[in-house]
Amino acid sequence: MAFFSNPKAPENFALLSFFVILSCFTVPSLANFHRDAEITWGDGRGQITEGGRGLSLSLDQYSGSGFQSKNEYLFGRFDMQLKLVPGNSAGTVTTFFLSSQGEGHDEIDFEFLGNATGEPYTVHTNVYSQGKGDKEQQFHLWFDPTAAFHTYSIVWNPQRIIFLVDNSPIRVFNNHESSGIPFPKNQAMRVYCSLWNADDWATQGGRVKTDWTKAPFVAYYRNFKIDACAVGTPCASKSLTHELDANGRNRLRWVQQKHMVYNYCADVQRFPQGTSVECKRSRF
Ligand SMILES: *[C@@H]1O[C@H](CO)[C@@H](O)[C@H](O)[C@H]1NC(C)=O
Repeated sequence: MAFFSNPKAPENFALLSFFVILSCFTVPSLANFHRDAEITWGDGRGQITEGGRGLSLSLDQYSGSGFQSKNEYLFGRFDMQLKLVPGNSAGTVTTFFLSSQGEGHDEIDFEFLGNATGEPYTVHTNVYSQGKGDKEQQFHLWFDPTAAFHTYSIVWNPQRIIFLVDNSPIRVFNNHESSGIPFPKNQAMRVYCSLWNADDWATQGGRVKTDWTKAPFVAYYRNFKIDACAVGTPCASKSLTHELDANGRNRLRWVQQKHMVYNYCADVQRFPQGTSVECKRSRF
């Protein structure tokens, strides 16, 4: 934008401050994929549609594809609508996640593991703090995620991370730094999305292979909403204090009881010396 061409000039500085202050109090805004994201790999397999409101990623035998947000954020709420690969999607993985860069990185993951026709997708969630993950929870959905768009959201603030599906919380990861569990809160993150082949592990531990006669596989993204804090600016996003109310806690309990298929907190074979502290402390 021309306004920002010379931020050192005093008249521009006043204008700049005005825009910075304004941007801190904006309501959640619909991102435009042209303006706010860039397709970073896939050699034409990623396509922006609907004037920037939609984006499709495709995967074939030679490559998958992916995009990322142009900006980095420290805390916020990120909503994405996705329509997943239909039919036999076994071996494919569609992702929507936040990640910092470099060593000791932080990451908050939504990954959708495809399956044979008629079998349920697995929604895989994980949190990495300072390079360490091993905090997986997996779910099956209560609807067909390939038939229509559904909204998947990540709320990330200094107290907790909340994963939501169509506004129902499916997982809360609380900050337990006081018990020595690292929590992602010092590194800014970008939003990343991709569609790739992971038939070496995704479907039933790699036993089911991708059927390339069904390629190209296509996943659709749209209505990307960002209500987040840009690094270094004061921020009044409501997501900063987001916590579950009674209704949210009920909904979370329902999802966890009826639709959770894997919980690292319950995996004593994998963690014979005891599961992580946040597992014991976690109340909804
Ligand atoms: C695929 O379907 C099978 C059978 O219903 C299920 O056990 C499995 O969790 C599903 N997900 C993946 C990624 O294999």
